Amino acid sequence: MVQGVANWNTETTEEWLQNYVDDWVSFYRKHTEDGNVASYIPILGEANKNHLGISILGSDGLSIRSGDTDISFTIQSISKVFSYIVACMTRGVSYVLDRVDVEPTGEAFNSIMHLEMRNRLEKPFNPLINAGAITVSSMLEGDTSDEKLNPLFELFERILGYRPEINVEVYESERDSSMRNRAIGYYLLETGFLESDLNITLETYFKQCSIEITIDDLAKIGTVLANDGEDPATGEEVIPRQVARLSKALMLTCGMYDASGKFAAYVGVPAKSGVSGGIIAVSPPRVREESLPFKNGCGIGVYGPALDEQGNSIAGIRLLRHIANQWDLSIF
Ligand code: DON
Repeated sequence: MVQGVANWNTETTEEWLQNYVDDWVSFYRKHTEDGNVASYIPILGEANKNHLGISILGSDGLSIRSGDTDISFTIQSISKVFSYIVACMTRGVSYVLDRVDVEPTGEAFNSIMHLEMRNRLEKPFNPLINAGAITVSSMLEGDTSDEKLNPLFELFERILGYRPEINVEVYESERDSSMRNRAIGYYLLETGFLESDLNITLETYFKQCSIEITIDDLAKIGTVLANDGEDPATGEEVIPRQVARLSKALMLTCGMYDASGKFAAYVGVPAKSGVSGGIIAVSPPRVREESLPFKNGCGIGVYGPALDEQGNSIAGIRLLRHIANQWDLSIF
């Protein structure tokens, strides 16, 4: 039987769903012991590995939040989706597609190997691995990293109603431990992919990764993607439909790095993770006849800093898998 569904059409819907999600979060919190917090950026190693929280926001405004809901954390690689969206909005979709491909790599997010495997005249595989994301950061318009990131902050502000901030401590820790990203950056410079100065490009990338957000923010942004770029709360188009759909396709095929195939098979919704333990997941409206929770679509934000080997929140993925199965969220 599908859990969290009984009575869901009555005034007790919210309570029913809340109770189920509370149970699931306490169950999966134990799974945080199976993972480890990221330590290659020293300050991320200070996170509490047992934290786990989820925020689910329906297109109709129904909100279920459970676990460690009030912690802010840095967006990390989840920012790659939004710098890509901004690049598409400011430079044009075909300009961006000509320079960064939309193919999964099956390799780790910071792999250098795959850059060399492809003919050097071609482009980085996709914008959600570091090579593609750094190339996208170089495409953002502006002479300084702050100018380049301004449209990204404006997009967040338009959706969230406030302007998130950069966590300077994380930014500095990231910048000072960035040998791998610098290596990727120099490779991109040598192959002619970068459109702006290497140092400004990397500064832009490190800063975008260090933007502080919450799971409620991710859930809210997720509702916009679930509705193809339209904010269901206002009816306003915040992201062009074509760009929102392209981004969701990339999230589904590349968003969970070398675990993207498994995530698509077992969870079945577009998602993007970051090494601080955040995940944004997007459940579009479903056309099936059954009366299921969040049938009109929802955005989901998860935080659980204990990671698996691919750098994805270990308990977060298991929790999402459970919820997707219980509520039939898969898009397939
Ligand atoms: O490039 C890095 O190392 C990080 N700032 C972002 C990596 C990240 O979040 C990968 N995610 N799973």
